[in-house]
Amino acid sequence: MAEKITVSLIKADVGGWPGHSLVHPDLIKTAKKELEKEKGKLLIDFHVTNCGDDLELLMTHRKGVDSEEVHHLAWNTFEEATKVAMNLKLYGAGQDLLGEAFSGNIKGLGPGVAELEFDERKAETIIAFMMDKTDPGAFNLPIYKMFADPFNTIGLVIDPNAVSGFTFEVWDILESKKVFMKCPEELYKMLALIGAKSRYVIKNVFPKKGGKLPSEQSAATISTEKLYEIAGDYVGKDDPVALVRAQSGLPAVGEILEPFTFPHLVAGWMRGSHNGPIMPVSQKNAICTRFDGPPRVIALGFQIANGKLVGPVDLFDDPAYDLARMKAQRAADYMRQHGPFEPHRLPCADMEYTTLPAILRELEKRFEKL
Ligand code: F6R
Ligand code: MG
Ligand code: MG
Repeated sequence: MAEKITVSLIKADVGGWPGHSLVHPDLIKTAKKELEKEKGKLLIDFHVTNCGDDLELLMTHRKGVDSEEVHHLAWNTFEEATKVAMNLKLYGAGQDLLGEAFSGNIKGLGPGVAELEFDERKAETIIAFMMDKTDPGAFNLPIYKMFADPFNTIGLVIDPNAVSGFTFEVWDILESKKVFMKCPEELYKMLALIGAKSRYVIKNVFPKKGGKLPSEQSAATISTEKLYEIAGDYVGKDDPVALVRAQSGLPAVGEILEPFTFPHLVAGWMRGSHNGPIMPVSQKNAICTRFDGPPRVIALGFQIANGKLVGPVDLFDDPAYDLARMKAQRAADYMRQHGPFEPHRLPCADMEYTTLPAILRELEKRFEKL
């Protein structure tokens, strides 16, 4: 059998234009130039894009997940882009490169990472999701719907290769531990966890044992890096990415996109401190403007041919999502009218990871005992 293919999606905000709205085209150009040098060597193929102010490197190779060489290439590429950002005095130049220097793995240094390694099927379909102005928990609801909700994914009911369900790997990102949960058997218990999306996040979804697909090869993976844990201070939201494989025993492309017709409320938006709707948009419309948002999600679809990325197809660039965008705008209006009040503003526990504690420290000495 041919060597496995690895798809790596690694992203960082290395400077916004203007403010936190977009990536400047010169940064995209620089990243393309850097990755081009490795095409046909370390990399089989790559695609560079942006979602809002996040520079996104999608790469295919045969080095497996957590490859030091591939992570190093991504780190160097972000460093080169940072130099350009500094010359243009872009906003927050180099903001996500929190580590002092690369030391073997890019995780924990600031950038977000989603990687899948698998045997390339006869026809391999994959969707790369990228979000701006939100955190990893924003993927819980749509991933749950794709792989566990028969009202979303009819394949769970009528595809003999999908009826036995999927196994979810759920991370407790506060206590750094994980649990594997089988669905549909443990669906209710899993919802008890993942409904609390600021703490429990879906990391991977695996096919069940005994099915058509190898049960150890993840079908969907989500970046779960939390910037505040790395920086020890607020430096912006985590802006997660995900890779989801599709078709032939996995959810169909349309079943994977369907959850985004509901612009559910996610944490992030202005100053990473608000709940707001996530709006599915085309890549060119991933520009966070209104109140630095509202949070956006883009979906790029590819077929993979011996590691070559055949695509992208900009999947939300479609009038079928106009209604979802309209719903998102209505929800944005409704939420904005709360101004600084909860539940538009995040609850106190989540505000601890923003700039609020500095304000509270100042007031501390003025509080009197009741
Ligand atoms: C959200 C985000 C922005 C900034 C906001 C204030 O993740 O990055 O909403 O928080 O523009 O930025 P500063 O404090 O740098 O002026
Ligand atoms: Mg930014
Ligand atoms: Mg961002």
